[in-house]
Amino acid sequence: MTFDRRDFPLLMGTDIAYLDNAATAQRPQCVLDAEKDFYEKANANPLRGLYPLSIAATEAYEEAREAVRGFLNAKRKEEIIFTRNTTESINLVAYSYGLSHVKAGDEVLVSIMEHHSNLLPWQMVCRQTGAVLRFIECEMDGSIDLNKVEQLITPRTKIVAMTQVSNVLGRVNPIREVADLAHRVGAVMVVDGAQSTPHMPVDVQALGADFLAFSGHKVYGPMGIGALYGRYELLEKMPPFLTGGEMIESVTREGATYAELPYKFEAGTCNAAGAVGLHAAIDYVEQAGFQRMHEREVALVARALTGIQAMPWIHVLGSDKAEEHSGIITFTVDGVHPHDISEILASDGVAIRAGHHCAQPLLKYLGHPSTARASLAFYNTEEDVDRLLASLSTLRERMGYGK
Ligand code: ALA
Repeated sequence: MTFDRRDFPLLMGTDIAYLDNAATAQRPQCVLDAEKDFYEKANANPLRGLYPLSIAATEAYEEAREAVRGFLNAKRKEEIIFTRNTTESINLVAYSYGLSHVKAGDEVLVSIMEHHSNLLPWQMVCRQTGAVLRFIECEMDGSIDLNKVEQLITPRTKIVAMTQVSNVLGRVNPIREVADLAHRVGAVMVVDGAQSTPHMPVDVQALGADFLAFSGHKVYGPMGIGALYGRYELLEKMPPFLTGGEMIESVTREGATYAELPYKFEAGTCNAAGAVGLHAAIDYVEQAGFQRMHEREVALVARALTGIQAMPWIHVLGSDKAEEHSGIITFTVDGVHPHDISEILASDGVAIRAGHHCAQPLLKYLGHPSTARASLAFYNTEEDVDRLLASLSTLRERMGYGK
């Protein structure tokens, strides 16, 4: 393997500068092969059959769980639950832990920069229990002031939910420090790892995370597979989120006893091929090395930011330091709607995202109804960045503002 864009068939087969990696990354050939191999050589329903094919499928599925455990440095394999994605993982925590531990008068604390997937589940918990949802507001450069967090966390706080990296600003949040403050009052720390897991080693023990969610498709794995890490002592006492097939110990006409962890939380036929693909993706990023990926991403972001600085009509949200962006550059252009930016860039073969990025409260707080976002991965090239800059440099002229 080469550990660059040559491993990614879609990038080699098309002439686009793909700069929407925060929405979904591309997959290396080894991930595509792993999914195909599963269907060609090991396809059977895992965990259910006593014949060799099903046993092989079960083994592949459980090896994938072990790979995720190692990826997050969880203590035990039972702490890893496969889900469809980050949204489902956080909903599991909200419905199962949230509804059974939060009561009227309690508080749930989220940051203003949460993706809707780490906000709407907590709105639901507060609506259903009578608890109060409170917000940690960030500074204009996207940083979090821990003194403000300390003031907001009180004995009423039961859950603190925060993204490790904002999908709009790209800045890394001080999860360990926030988790320590949460734990001082007995609250649990829920971490959205969707945008951090593609860019840095994530260690749930070092972070002090009680729960951490991420999606396979953002770490170069398949769509439709994600995972939730939960601390064993918490998961053990939580009721199931979904009920039905294969999550039971025994069932009578009147009721059921539930399976042990992690199966209690994995009702229905699992996405075994997705898990196998995720395993291949984890192997890929671990061999490619986060340090190398990080250096590459910082260099590309620095090149983009330098180019953008020469265009005073473009305004970048968040930090002005390349190393504080996790590959994400969210920006506005004076007088040009982000949807027009995106369409004009698309006509030049540059793929970016425009809109509210599923983070409407943050954009409102920062004073922008909508923005454009270019998000880079280690496999992007200087040419990709230069195509972005070239297209941006002609934008206003093409919208009729003159030279
Ligand atoms: N969460 C993804 C994004 O930020 C979809 O684009």
